[in-house]
Amino acid sequence: MRSITLRKPVDLHVHFRDGEVLDAVVPYTARQFARAIVMPNLVPPVTTAQMAADYRGRIMAAVPEGVDFTPMMTCYLTDATVPADLVAGHRDGIFAAAKLYPAHATTNSAHGVTSVEALDPVFAAMADAGMPLLTHGELVHADVDIFDREARFIDDILAPLLERHPTLKVVMEHITTEEGAQFVASGGDRLAATITPQHLLYDRNVLFEGGIRPHYYCLPILKRRKHQLALRKAATSGAANYFLGTDTAPHLKHLKEAACGCAGVFSAPVAVEAYLKVFAEDDALEHFEAFASLNGPAFYGFAPSETRVTYEERSWTAPETVSVENREIVPLFAGENVDWALAPGL
Ligand code: DOR
Ligand code: ZN
Repeated sequence: MRSITLRKPVDLHVHFRDGEVLDAVVPYTARQFARAIVMPNLVPPVTTAQMAADYRGRIMAAVPEGVDFTPMMTCYLTDATVPADLVAGHRDGIFAAAKLYPAHATTNSAHGVTSVEALDPVFAAMADAGMPLLTHGELVHADVDIFDREARFIDDILAPLLERHPTLKVVMEHITTEEGAQFVASGGDRLAATITPQHLLYDRNVLFEGGIRPHYYCLPILKRRKHQLALRKAATSGAANYFLGTDTAPHLKHLKEAACGCAGVFSAPVAVEAYLKVFAEDDALEHFEAFASLNGPAFYGFAPSETRVTYEERSWTAPETVSVENREIVPLFAGENVDWALAPGL
């Protein structure tokens, strides 16, 4: 039986929601991760340091007793973001980063940014403060095919933005394409990317295997196999500018299995195990700790966890559903075999 011991991983991209869903999902992330970067796309969005501090309090209240877990908060950028307020929130230790959602790109992005260039004063202040910008990297326009949104975002928005702000640190969240992986590789040490488990495990065919499969629907959408393979190569290389960010995005079952279903894969209950499957299949377990526990903290500038955890190659069955009061959420690998397990007692 293979096993791996590593510093406790960090999830650099999670959605916890609020209320009952928050209470139900936080324990899954807190079980496996020392810290997480928490997305701000609540309703209403987290746009002030006070809102983020309050939200952090609600998250901490949902962490089980005795579990050591640190949520790191982000600010949702809007057309009205005030540079001084944003960097004050960073300086005060509330905001780890700020998130750019192009307007209408994804779940709860209606308040997102309509003109990226108009936010240049915000980006300049962030660069001065050393505050990372996290991007939802899709250009959403009626003329842009859904499968081309990421490449178009890079060409039309991100490359010019990086040129205008040469010292701004940027994380392209959840890259899904060969173009995304290549662009990040060429960006030096101020550009990085998170990669989700589903984009490493699947290509777009899984969305239509025997019928339409809403639980694989997320944004950016799954791409062709050549992109999946490029992402696997990037992640398993151990290179410093790729790191773990699950984009775990819980939606109630009935809201995904619907005529207009929500985007998001709830991966938190099986997250580290899902990535381990990929690294084991690609014979790259020696690079797993870099991807899962070291590269993200190094980019953000915080210390990796001092706690060591062990995962063993041991089979178990993922739950079909996770309960939220009298509703359910369907996780990644629902009812399927999982190859890796957290060693007990550690
Ligand atoms: O699939 C997704 N779900 N992609 C996103 O960008 C947002 C997320 C969510 O909040 O549900
Ligand atoms: Zn996300």
